[in-house]
Amino acid sequence: MNHLIAPSVLAADFANLKHDIEMVNASEADWFHIDIMDGVFVPNISFGFPVLDAIAKYASKPLDVHLMIVDPDRYLEQFKKAGAATITVHYEACTHLHRTIQAIKSLGCIAGVALNPHTPVSVLDDIIEDVDMVLLMSVNPGFGAQKFIPNTYRKIRTLKTMAAGRNNGLLIEIDGGVNLSNSTELLNAGANVLVAGNFVFTAENPGQVISQLKSTQGQTLQA
Ligand code: DX5
Ligand code: ZN
Repeated sequence: MNHLIAPSVLAADFANLKHDIEMVNASEADWFHIDIMDGVFVPNISFGFPVLDAIAKYASKPLDVHLMIVDPDRYLEQFKKAGAATITVHYEACTHLHRTIQAIKSLGCIAGVALNPHTPVSVLDDIIEDVDMVLLMSVNPGFGAQKFIPNTYRKIRTLKTMAAGRNNGLLIEIDGGVNLSNSTELLNAGANVLVAGNFVFTAENPGQVISQLKSTQGQTLQA
């Protein structure tokens, strides 16, 4: 599968949101990455439904919703109604993760689970067949523009090995500090969805940066 690019709207210019959404619409990006933060699960508050509605009104690509909130079950239906195509919840915020994943699927959404940098991928061993996507945080969640944590490469490889033969279509999404200096190595390790916030939106030509991320090639490994 060709990898997907999901620009993170958190880094957009909120005073010119429509402009930035149209830029992504016209680009080679695949999804809009939407970060929802509640100020409890993470030490930051991003935005809620009124802003999400405004994004959904203009976005012509699927909304990839990343919930950094406690008790996400309370809001799954509302996010679906707001236009979410994928809903990702944090492992660390879900007491009954299996139930939550089933609830997301029953809404017709792609079901994702996110892991903080300190959470080992081994915690997903008994649910790997049930999830559509695993989001590996490559920074501590809560803020954009942080430095990429290199241990992420090892986590991707461990996850790939765990999913082999059990969930071959698993989406592995990397979120935090992604740029053109780590994209090749991320794809080589087995990632297939790259989120990028500041690297895209602070660029002089964001559409071109998206296109460069999209055309990143993993190296062809010799047998
Ligand atoms: C961090 C968010 C990320 C963030 C990525 O908590 O989940 O999606 O927007 O932004 P960059 O690419 O700037 O690290
Ligand atoms: Zn995110």
